[in-house]
Amino acid sequence: MEPSFHVICVLLIFILQGVQGEDVDVHNNVEIEKHRKRGCDVFQGRWVYDSSYPLYNSFNCPFLEQAFDCRKNGRHDRSYLKYRWQPLSCNLPRFSGSNFLKNFRGKRIMFVGDSLSLNQWQSFTCMLHASVPEAKYAFFRTGGISTFTFPAYNVSIMLHRSAFLVDILTRKRGRILDLNSINGGNLWKGMDVLVFNSWHWWTHRGSLQAWDLVRDEKRTYKDMNRFVAFDKGLTTWAQWVDFNIDPKATKVFFQGVSPVHSNSRDWGDPRAKDCRAQTQPMLGSSYPGGTNPAEAIVEKVLRGMSKPVQLLNITTLSALRKDGHVGVFGYGGPKAIDCSHWCLPGVPDTWNLLMYALLIQN
Ligand SMILES: *[C@@H]1O[C@H](CO)[C@@H](O)[C@H](O)[C@H]1NC(C)=O
Ligand SMILES: *[C@@H]1O[C@H](CO)[C@@H](O)[C@H](O)[C@H]1NC(C)=O
Repeated sequence: MEPSFHVICVLLIFILQGVQGEDVDVHNNVEIEKHRKRGCDVFQGRWVYDSSYPLYNSFNCPFLEQAFDCRKNGRHDRSYLKYRWQPLSCNLPRFSGSNFLKNFRGKRIMFVGDSLSLNQWQSFTCMLHASVPEAKYAFFRTGGISTFTFPAYNVSIMLHRSAFLVDILTRKRGRILDLNSINGGNLWKGMDVLVFNSWHWWTHRGSLQAWDLVRDEKRTYKDMNRFVAFDKGLTTWAQWVDFNIDPKATKVFFQGVSPVHSNSRDWGDPRAKDCRAQTQPMLGSSYPGGTNPAEAIVEKVLRGMSKPVQLLNITTLSALRKDGHVGVFGYGGPKAIDCSHWCLPGVPDTWNLLMYALLIQN
């Protein structure tokens, strides 16, 4: 690249930023007044350029898995790192890992779900480590649970990989996805914060399908409509939470469905094919591709629960980030294009910022 061109680009970005920054402040003051009485839905907003982003660098997060470390895997565009989520009617609190660790001394936070939980768990541990780089940390794995801990604060950030939340039973006939049982839930007891997620694995077929038969109400089926199965499985999970969780002791979140960008028609750009060459988010607050029907199931099941579960309503805000995926910069390179997971630093940092905002406001 010509140096002069580079300088012009930097200048342009600088100017654009200045303008945008001002716009955000004016916009916010008016909006905050307008919405103060109604409370603030932190999930309604838009992405704004912020030169202070990202919140950490991947080389400052030595335990970041290579699968999410897009920079290390050769991604050189930088703009996707520089967007901050701006709610319409309020500002998010500034993230302070040290305050979090002080306030959550002696507490355990567990993420439960598939690799999108892994994505969020990794993001959170990187954010915390970047805030307190001098604090010792430890990492260990026991019985299907990965634990990241800061011994000086006695805070544990845990991950239980459980793609379906309900059980998979291994029998002579094969692997049975049991829509009514949730013995795995014993591992979730006694946590201070639980963050669940499930959906993507319900869609898999062929060699990626993790079960051979599906069981519901004592009957076994070769297959089932995947939305129906998800609804039933999630209802079992909801009953588990309603029965086992004491809301005074445990705060429960559900991470909304994380969008994929494997069909660029969804965002009105058929020539792009998928996420691979995307370097810019969508501006504005709505996504033309609509929402995933699975998200409607999540919202329906949560509405029917007797215990409070906070939806981390990240579906739309993440849908706007067609630029945020791993794409060809994952572990598998261009042969394994990945338009479902997210680069770190990146979009899951915002999921955690929102979770943080909701946690510290209580
Ligand atoms: C989640 O966010 C979307 C987009 O902002 C909104 O349309 C939807 O109603 C929200 N769902 C809930 C349960 O708040
Ligand atoms: C650390 O926290 C756990 C609960 O997460 C508690 O059982 C334990 O007593 C604490 N240890 C210390 C040394 O405070």
